[in-house]
Amino acid sequence: MLTLGLESSCDETSCAVVSAEGKILSNVVATQLEHSAYGGVIPELASRAHLQQFPDIVKRSLREAGIALEEVELIAVTHTPGLIGSLSVGVNLAKGIAAGLGIPLIGVNHVEAHIHAASLDREVDFPALGIAASGAHTAVFLLRSPLSFELIGKTRDDAIGETFDKVARFLGLPYPGGALIEQLAEQGDPYAFSFSSSNLTDHAFSFSGLKTAVLYAIKGKNSNHKTPLPQIPHQKRADLAASFQRAAFTTIVQKIPSIIKEFSCQTVLVGGGVANNRCFQDMLRHGSSVPVHFASPHLCCDNAAMIAVLGRKLFDLSGPSTEIVPCARYQWPLASFVH
Ligand code: KG4
Ligand code: ZN
Repeated sequence: MLTLGLESSCDETSCAVVSAEGKILSNVVATQLEHSAYGGVIPELASRAHLQQFPDIVKRSLREAGIALEEVELIAVTHTPGLIGSLSVGVNLAKGIAAGLGIPLIGVNHVEAHIHAASLDREVDFPALGIAASGAHTAVFLLRSPLSFELIGKTRDDAIGETFDKVARFLGLPYPGGALIEQLAEQGDPYAFSFSSSNLTDHAFSFSGLKTAVLYAIKGKNSNHKTPLPQIPHQKRADLAASFQRAAFTTIVQKIPSIIKEFSCQTVLVGGGVANNRCFQDMLRHGSSVPVHFASPHLCCDNAAMIAVLGRKLFDLSGPSTEIVPCARYQWPLASFVH
């Protein structure tokens, strides 16, 4: 069964084709560059860009996979969580193709797909702890089996990737700034600034206090994001980046041993754009008593292959979705699926 995946939850327009055996035949991703001028994603612009880009992205994806649209047998589409206008573009396109071809359709949860991507092409022991670390999400899940996702904790305020993007902006770096902070941090001292990591008593996370501490360290006490960026020597910028990065990752990593123990987790699975960060990878591996697997780099940031692969497995388990309604917020449990 050839599966066509569609992803448009935020600012990546993506289409992928996955073979009957689960092999990724194509995974075309177009990142919307128009948001960089604003330092963050503008939802209305994102929806319009998805509308404009999808026809070409779908054609390219089919061409790279070497198949015709008529050969597709299942459509998998991100239906939650994300920007409602952006999700609607993908879901409506998916419904249109499915109706036109007379084939089934399945809705996929974007955050679950990020975590599931870390389990591909390897043996994973369950129960597993799933960590989603992306621009819009920071959440931990218990997976008692490969396709069962139980939300056990999430951020109370900003997501970790969002925090990286905001700190990058404070440092005068363009959006999205996560990878640029990592590069800058390589030249810095992670202990130069003593930023503290929040350590909430439950499984929740918080990054907004750290963000403000970094803002004050860069622009001075009681500054705000509009305060002009002062001239900062390169070494100090690198030290700020490295110290921020260490504190941000500590917020997550310090909670992992107790969660592993509480739920007897055998493995840790990590997905989302921030999972690309090597410092995060090292800290997680170091802080965990069980094997830690990361999604491979081309599957970390938003992409449709992770949607197609998970969608196909969910379809095999439970059949097609009866009705798909785009939903901006992460909902647990999802009414529409029994995984
Ligand atoms: O998973 P993703 O494409 O989007 C969401 O689902 O939200 O993740 C994008 C996020 C951005 O915030 C970006 O700055 C961050 O991932 N990111 C990184 C790195 N690469 C991407 N953050 C830290 N270090 C990186 N190497
Ligand atoms: Zn994502």
